[in-house]
Amino acid sequence: MTTSATEHDLADLAFRLGAAQVPGLSPAERDLLAAAAVAAPWPGRGAGAGLVVPSANKAYRDLATTAAAGPDGAGGAAPPWMPADRPGRGLAEPGGLPGGLPEPGGLPEYSGLAGHGGLPEPGGLPEYSGLAGHGGLPEPTGLLGHSGPPEPARLPEHGGLGGADGLAGLRKAIRAGEDPLGEALCQIRTPQERRRAGQTFTPAPVVESMVSWAARTLAPARVVDPGAGSARFLAAAGRRWPGARLVGLETDPLAALIGRATLAAAGMAGRAVIEVADYRSARLPPVPGPTLFLGNPPYVRHHQVAAPWKDWLRDTAARLGVPASGLAGLHAHFFLATALHAVPGDAGALVTAAEWLDVNYGSLIRALLLGPLGGESVHVLDPAVAVFPDAAATSAITCFRPGTRPRAIRLRQVPRVTGLGALAGGTPVPVTVLRAASRWRPLAGGSSRPRRGCPEGMVELGELCRVHRGQVTGANNVWITGGNGGGPAPGLPARFLFPAVTRARELFSAGDTLATSAGLRQVIDLPADLEVLSAGERRQVNAFLAHVRAAGAAESYVARHRSPWWRVRMAEPAPILATYMARRAPTFVRNLAAARHVNIAHGLYPREPLPPAALDRLAAYLRSSVTASQGRIYAGGLAKFEPGEMERLLVPAPALLLTAPP
Ligand SMILES: C[S@@+](CC[C@H](N)C(=O)[O-])C[C@H]1O[C@@H](n2cnc3c(N)ncnc32)[C@H](O)[C@@H]1O
Repeated sequence: MTTSATEHDLADLAFRLGAAQVPGLSPAERDLLAAAAVAAPWPGRGAGAGLVVPSANKAYRDLATTAAAGPDGAGGAAPPWMPADRPGRGLAEPGGLPGGLPEPGGLPEYSGLAGHGGLPEPGGLPEYSGLAGHGGLPEPTGLLGHSGPPEPARLPEHGGLGGADGLAGLRKAIRAGEDPLGEALCQIRTPQERRRAGQTFTPAPVVESMVSWAARTLAPARVVDPGAGSARFLAAAGRRWPGARLVGLETDPLAALIGRATLAAAGMAGRAVIEVADYRSARLPPVPGPTLFLGNPPYVRHHQVAAPWKDWLRDTAARLGVPASGLAGLHAHFFLATALHAVPGDAGALVTAAEWLDVNYGSLIRALLLGPLGGESVHVLDPAVAVFPDAAATSAITCFRPGTRPRAIRLRQVPRVTGLGALAGGTPVPVTVLRAASRWRPLAGGSSRPRRGCPEGMVELGELCRVHRGQVTGANNVWITGGNGGGPAPGLPARFLFPAVTRARELFSAGDTLATSAGLRQVIDLPADLEVLSAGERRQVNAFLAHVRAAGAAESYVARHRSPWWRVRMAEPAPILATYMARRAPTFVRNLAAARHVNIAHGLYPREPLPPAALDRLAAYLRSSVTASQGRIYAGGLAKFEPGEMERLLVPAPALLLTAPP
């Protein structure tokens, strides 16, 4: 095991704080402790004392960097504590994962770890073994109370790690809800090193919000943190639920050690266990009561996920009937594993990067929430909010209650961390809408392209809908037929005639809704390939084309620039039609007649499906709020809205559109 000197120091400090009191000490952690003891700079002095040297902060960081970069400094080697990322290591696999080890027979819960309750394996750690009990070293006096070189100055944080008040000071800080060991780990490893293993610890306000949500939801018999890190979640949960068992899964032995130390220092060792194991292959035995899954799954991109785990994802997803993608990042694996581990009555809150809401591979998580995980709410932190100091991604907190079949999931855009509260609120978006949507973030409100000064609860219309000008025919007197002023009856098959809005006044006179196409003119839209027509249809079409060609229709500018010249190519009907050029405000009309439109109107096409009621509200809002002065005003008071300008109109966020009273 190659770890930096500073990591040894931290391991040593964790040991002194009682890490070994928390059951489950793994061989990797033992190795680390043994190495830490060997590396202690002077006899009798715990290596953890090195952490008090302020200048060492940088020096140790350099050491850590060098160690991670490898002997040639080229970098790229995975740190030794990174997940082996191969199924079949560690604990027996859930549900018969291929290559999994057989379940260790008869071992106590989370074991393979016989004989814990705190003491190191006899003879296992000679350097430490004479030490009384665990928790373990006699409390040192002074600066970790050792003889040796003159005492160095202390790190400013926490009065120095093991500083003025020594271990007692650290314990006090931990009992007050601080995480000095996690912070130390973040100092001695560079952000790049930690990012490779998805090691970003969760700020206290986020932890508190998630715990508060859970407290309103259930009284857990057990709290499981998948990827426990320094045990921030477990410590907070332990404070909230004094009777709950606390279980952490963690692949990094050093993180596991400091997580143990934190729980021991917080007085929770007796009901906690930390397992150095991959969460996906962990076994969680049944407990009498609900389990709360609480944590921040590692954010590791799919490139770093080993092929056997991708196979695991595919096979497991198939078993659960949800879609899988080889592009899924590690956090998607963790959602899937949670669906495997959980039983009805459990609950969970996980904070992750928010991208799964919108990207293709996220359909796995979305399907889990609409299915076995029982999604309850998703709280998306505004992209501008940097929740995690060293990670740039937008964050989302997802709350779920496995076994429930919700009719709606609450979606909420949260402008700042202080607005998280107890994760209440948000708009219940019907599962029918969520199922049909390929992106969920727009449904949460807020904007992925936030506009300065955009009031809360409003988004640009372009977030919800593409705005398209209607088709240009090239010669309305040729391609528009029927009604007053239309061209001559063409004698064409009816299926090539499309009722269309061809005059702005048809929309102005429609009121709220264009209910029927009766009275509209029709646009002739012929197929490109005439060979496929029946002989009879072909004759009709040929006769028509010969007629209009003779009238010059093939020579118009537009006809010369399209192929074939006769193909008008009308767009599909838009659910909302808008006028865009008049001496008055535009109107927005619900198009229940499924009419097409030519270039006297714009069509509003939702980017994601919106239910009819939401479309009604959107059209009504636009009708009542948009004024002529928001467009470009031309001479004579003509107000014009180009599609891009219309897309910048502000409208209520989807959350409001989906729920506002009609
Ligand atoms: C984002 S951190 C969260 C730590 C802690 N729960 C918190 O929120 O402060 C994720 C942790 O998961 C660990 N991890 C990475 N891959 C893992 C795996 N396959 N199984 C279990 N833990 C893993 C990382 O070492 C890291 O400590």
